[in-house]
Amino acid sequence: MCGIVGYLGENNSIDVILEGLSRLEYRGYDSAGICIIDPQTAGLSSFRETGKLNNLKKVLAGKNLFSRIGIGHTRWATHGAVTADNAHPHSNELLAIVHNGIIENAGQLREELIAQGEKFYSQTDTETFLVLATRYYKQKMDLRWSVQQAFSHIRGNSAFVVMTAKGDEIVAIKRAAPLVCGQNNVNGDFFVSSDPYALVGFAEDIYFPEDEVICHIQKMTSGSMISFHDLEGKESSSFQKKKSELNADVVEKGEFEHFMLKEIFEQPRLIAQWLDFYVNGPGKEDVLKFQEYKSRTIHIVGCGTAWHAGLVIRDFVEHFNRIHTHVELASEFRYRDPLLKEEEIGLFISQSGETADTLAAEELCRENGLQTFSIVNTVGSTLYRNCVGNFLIRAGQEIGVASTKAFTLQVLTGYLCSRVLSKDFEGHNDLVRDEIKREVELLAERIDLFLKDSEGVKNIAQKIQKHKGFIFTGRRRYYPIALEGALKLKEIAYVHAEGFAAGELKHGPIALIDEDIVNIAIVSPELYEKTVSNVEEVKARNGVIVTIGPKNDAPLKEISDFYIPVDFEGLPNLGPLLVNVVNQVLAYYIALFKGTDIDKPRNLAKSVTVE
Ligand code: G6P
Repeated sequence: MCGIVGYLGENNSIDVILEGLSRLEYRGYDSAGICIIDPQTAGLSSFRETGKLNNLKKVLAGKNLFSRIGIGHTRWATHGAVTADNAHPHSNELLAIVHNGIIENAGQLREELIAQGEKFYSQTDTETFLVLATRYYKQKMDLRWSVQQAFSHIRGNSAFVVMTAKGDEIVAIKRAAPLVCGQNNVNGDFFVSSDPYALVGFAEDIYFPEDEVICHIQKMTSGSMISFHDLEGKESSSFQKKKSELNADVVEKGEFEHFMLKEIFEQPRLIAQWLDFYVNGPGKEDVLKFQEYKSRTIHIVGCGTAWHAGLVIRDFVEHFNRIHTHVELASEFRYRDPLLKEEEIGLFISQSGETADTLAAEELCRENGLQTFSIVNTVGSTLYRNCVGNFLIRAGQEIGVASTKAFTLQVLTGYLCSRVLSKDFEGHNDLVRDEIKREVELLAERIDLFLKDSEGVKNIAQKIQKHKGFIFTGRRRYYPIALEGALKLKEIAYVHAEGFAAGELKHGPIALIDEDIVNIAIVSPELYEKTVSNVEEVKARNGVIVTIGPKNDAPLKEISDFYIPVDFEGLPNLGPLLVNVVNQVLAYYIALFKGTDIDKPRNLAKSVTVE
């Protein structure tokens, strides 16, 4: 979840690293730091500041420093408080290091090292790696070998990037944590990062090393070079080299004030592209292959928003296929000793493809002999590489920490998979495909129409933003949408929000209702009367009622304090995705009125690579 950027080349590393880190700040922003070679002393020089990257930028601004090598980091604290001493890079006179992940045996290693006379200056687990690597480095002054040795002592999933005071090499290694290297073909510069997104515009070629492969970037007399080695020191070919697939415009907000809003507005276009790929185009065949797995019990696993997508997908799979489908939070699934059978399949949903718990859950399924599939956004991510089959959601880079477009495309992809597995697809392949196509096109159109005229939702947001708490309710496929609506709101507006199944309100949550509580009630055409009754129950207890319900519904409007009309016509399956966009916009504007940091909400990280 921390952001890492390293650079070795002919330009000023500080500019490259700060630009890269600013793109990675969505991964973690408790503190930021950089280590370079000081032009005056020719030794390692670190700058570390708590808080957002801007604080570090301000410190560096007046200094006029230039270094052709450097490593930088934005931190999401795991071990040790948010202090400058705990910020990365950690360094001594010989080595500097940045780290993403957790060293599980750090406590024990630290004790052993202290007993051997070593000193520690921070509370981080990272420093144990620095101390270990430095001990080896002092023996042979060989960076690659030292990192290799130090790495063999540590347990847990981590990525490390290390540079020396000589300023002519960088070594990187990882285990189940994101790490890529980049190369600029024009000027021969090399980069390392936790995300190819940081390297957009800098590197055309991206290297994706396997776990436990050492990436070695060295400055030679003939220019810089990169090589890969295994833990025995032998040259390794366990990496992939690909052209960067990201365009420069992914790093810009364009006309939007926030990336989150940009990403919400991208949805109609992305849905159309998704349709072109999966229903009209080459993706057709990919999904058809999934038919081979029909009638098998499915375990759907994810975290956060991806888990909510799984809940909607379960409804589709069970409804269209009549096969058992379980949905679980990855963090629970992996420790619950779940009942898994070889003939079942695992379906893992993740935007990043790097969420530690989701990766561990996938591994557990694989170890138990299940075939594993992903619905994932990031090509080349660990999840993508570990599963036997992947359904890419094709959402493009998602920068806003609160996931929006990824959810929509995850659900759509799951919906398509569920239809492909079903019996009606076998006999009426084209008919079903046409039906799916019509509904998806309509969905894109309706989202577009809503977004073009969302002023009404903005006004409602302004009127309800000061209320004490928010309760989202819905039934069936709209229940996960209620959960997701509440999650969006609490993530970005820092208000207490909960999602409930509408029918469950009277089993406890209704005790919360008073005039300070807003009930955002999703009133779908399906189960209409029952859901309206629940709204009446809240109204009778003076709750503020915001209904998201069928358009032209005068009686519903009458009982609502605020009414958001939705055109559900023609969307029997995908209506939840339209309502979800309404919730996204509502959460966005409530947060905007509250003045929170929408793209980088406090305490959250986009990619949760620790357990
Ligand atoms: C974090 C993000 C959420 C996301 C969840 C799962 O908590 O802030 O937006 O839903 O991780 O992430 P994944 O990348 O696996 O979808």
